[in-house]
Amino acid sequence: MKCMRNLVAAILVVMMAAPAAAQGQCAPTRPDAEGPFYQPNAPRRTSIGTGFIVQGTVRSARGCTPIPGARIEWWQANPRGEYDDQHRATMASDQSGSYRLETSFPPPYAGRPPHIHVKVFAPRHRPLTTQLYPKPGQKELSIDFVVLAE
Ligand SMILES: [Fe+2]
Repeated sequence: MKCMRNLVAAILVVMMAAPAAAQGQCAPTRPDAEGPFYQPNAPRRTSIGTGFIVQGTVRSARGCTPIPGARIEWWQANPRGEYDDQHRATMASDQSGSYRLETSFPPPYAGRPPHIHVKVFAPRHRPLTTQLYPKPGQKELSIDFVVLAE
């Protein structure tokens, strides 16, 4: 029985690793926890604060190709360390796959380091949920979101 369990575990590991390896010209963005504060249907906007810019390109792990029209959803704590509607946004990557969010530097809260939550939904790719961890004093963060093809 234990042997069977190990075999199933080994097969699962191979199944999960294989697509990344097959597509692996561009390292996929590491997923991170969704956390308890995600809400779908955030307002469409590109600014939820001032003083901190997040920008980059949504790319496919297959060939690093830019992906236009990917839906990007953002949520972060407000300056008091609470989640609210003013600090949520939905946007789409442009024709060159680029995006730009203007926001405020996220506060630490509940023992967690400053972070910004993000989800990326690209056509024919797996949804990505991750978090960004800007460093204190940073005014800008450039990051490409690399998603895996379905
Ligand atoms: Fe959070």
